[in-house]
Amino acid sequence: MGYQGHFRVWRGSDEGGGLEDFTVEVNEGEVVLDVIHRLQATQTPDLAVRWNCKAGKCGSCSAEINGKPRLLCMTRMSVFAEDETVTVTPMRTFPVIRDLVTDVSYNYQKAREIPAFKPPAGVAPGEYRMQQVDVERSQEFRKCIECFLCNNTCHVIRDHEENKESFAGPRFLMRVAELEMHPLDQADRVQEAQSSHGLGLCNITKCCTEVCPEHIKITDNALIPMKERVADRRYDPIVWLGNKLFRN
Ligand code: SF4
Ligand code: F3S
Ligand code: FES
Repeated sequence: MGYQGHFRVWRGSDEGGGLEDFTVEVNEGEVVLDVIHRLQATQTPDLAVRWNCKAGKCGSCSAEINGKPRLLCMTRMSVFAEDETVTVTPMRTFPVIRDLVTDVSYNYQKAREIPAFKPPAGVAPGEYRMQQVDVERSQEFRKCIECFLCNNTCHVIRDHEENKESFAGPRFLMRVAELEMHPLDQADRVQEAQSSHGLGLCNITKCCTEVCPEHIKITDNALIPMKERVADRRYDPIVWLGNKLFRN
């Protein structure tokens, strides 16, 4: 049975905006994106929203629903009471372009800053061999749909524009970890993670893990192991001696 749902949607641009109230029809089995589309079709044809697959796989429809970072297409209306007001706002960490659409280019900038996979010299593509256990470890990280909800949530850059320069965000620290754990990768990423990608700014609050729609254990399986490698490197007496000699 359908009902009239109460919605509050942020509308505006980079110059400012605010919340607007709407009453919209909601039908059984619908997700928030269905209702946003009905709003576009019936009341606000110019409402901007980014989406693509409507199946939780493209990572385009990231926004905040009642203050929580979520995918619009994977949030069922049945989780809200019929008389509840559902508030939909754009991701807070990235600049608004219009309405629910944000400029996520920070994330692409960070992706470009990570050096690519570096295979051993003399091994041609097709000749790479690795243990199944190593394949499985990185498989989890490769489920990422690049929705950037983790980066949006992390307190290091949420409301801290000044940290964006020095912090890659959980999504890309996870990418560094994935490459670092790759048995064939020849690049040394431990020091880079700390000095260039801001691993030290992460204080393992795990908020990124909590919002990941792919349920990737970002903190436990990527960030903490990277931190352990940094610590090992720092406190390993041979490495310490090497650093000393090198510096002198
Ligand atoms: Fe989204 Fe999870 Fe990938 Fe972060 S790690 S971008 S939350 S899918
Ligand atoms: Fe941020 Fe996740 Fe670390 S939320 S502080 S990157 S554990
Ligand atoms: Fe593709 Fe929501 S529209 S993840």
